[in-house]
Amino acid sequence: MINGGRVVVFGGSGFLGRHIVRRLAKAGARIIVAARDAEAAAQLKPVGDPGQVVPRRADLLDEASVAAAAAGADVVVNLVGILFESGRQSFAAVHTQGARRVAEAASAAGAKRLIHVSAVGAAPTSRSLYARTKAAGEAAVREAFPHATIVRPSIVFGPEDVFFNRFAAMARFTPALPLIGGGHTRFQPVYVGDVAEAVLRIAADPATAGKTYELGGPRVYTFREVLEVVLRATGRRRLLVPLPFWAADLEALFLERLPKPLLTRDQVKLLRRDNVVGANAPGLADLGITPTSVEAVVPAYLARYRRAGAAQSAPSP
Ligand SMILES: NC(=O)c1ccc[n+]([C@@H]2O[C@H](COP(=O)([O-])OP(=O)(O)OC[C@H]3O[C@@H](n4cnc5c(N)ncnc54)[C@H](OP(=O)(O)O)[C@@H]3O)[C@@H](O)[C@H]2O)c1
Repeated sequence: MINGGRVVVFGGSGFLGRHIVRRLAKAGARIIVAARDAEAAAQLKPVGDPGQVVPRRADLLDEASVAAAAAGADVVVNLVGILFESGRQSFAAVHTQGARRVAEAASAAGAKRLIHVSAVGAAPTSRSLYARTKAAGEAAVREAFPHATIVRPSIVFGPEDVFFNRFAAMARFTPALPLIGGGHTRFQPVYVGDVAEAVLRIAADPATAGKTYELGGPRVYTFREVLEVVLRATGRRRLLVPLPFWAADLEALFLERLPKPLLTRDQVKLLRRDNVVGANAPGLADLGITPTSVEAVVPAYLARYRRAGAAQSAPSP
């Protein structure tokens, strides 16, 4: 199915997508990288042989472009997701209606497999619209393509991630970092390479059809512990200042007006709930993948934020 198969990756130019496309190319797939910015998608052409990786403009808000991109697919992977709303890119339009459109297009194209990437915490009862629309997207996908495989990662880390890089960048300029909600929220960060490998193994194994996988790393960290990892990796000492949820909410009210908001009120709502994989959900182990630790990877790519002259093994903050 993978070697020689046609795999259409919606959102293939993003953080996760770039890793997945690289692996699919190595495995011998013929890949269509579908995204709104076809030029960004075209930058992935060199990861495969000539003609193996083909960029294609597609917008999940435009049904005809989705159907055209999915045509002839053996496998469809949907990685499209947003962290904040802007203009027509609402959570409902992208996570729910967009997900439905991809699933319907995959079904109409006669694709054998659909892998839909959602997120840990997706729930119809969540306070966060991000999480509610992700849950509605999963339901819509199941309706249109019952044997789709749903993948829900916790926070994903790796060079170019949003989470660890953002706090490392902040630590360069601010004397203190905010412990939103006191820093007690728990995360299970998962390595981008492990998520990419999981998608590849799911695509290759028909027994994974119809299942929902939750992907987390080997250790659970509190928000405070995540910031401590960042400070150790960057060799900086910063105050970690508890910021109650109501105060973070107020701050987000202003920050979410930025074109690329650092924090939104919806993200504060997400931070009120732990982001760890369910005890009984199938995960990386079921796919035969040993999860990579934060400590094995994060210090290397956060090294560029190190204070000049900071010792390589900086003391705990
Ligand atoms: N990164 C994490 O920590 C994390 C954690 C849990 C779940 N996830 C989920 O994993 C998936 C991938 O995340 P990521 O971090 O790789 O995201 P990303 O880097 O922001 O990539 C998103 C991709 O979606 C495309 N896209 C956005 N809007 C689109 C639209 N309307 N139509 C077509 N393509 C569109 C983007 O390209 P264009 O802008 O050019 O269209 C890009 O290729 C998402 O569903 C996300 O919710 C991520």
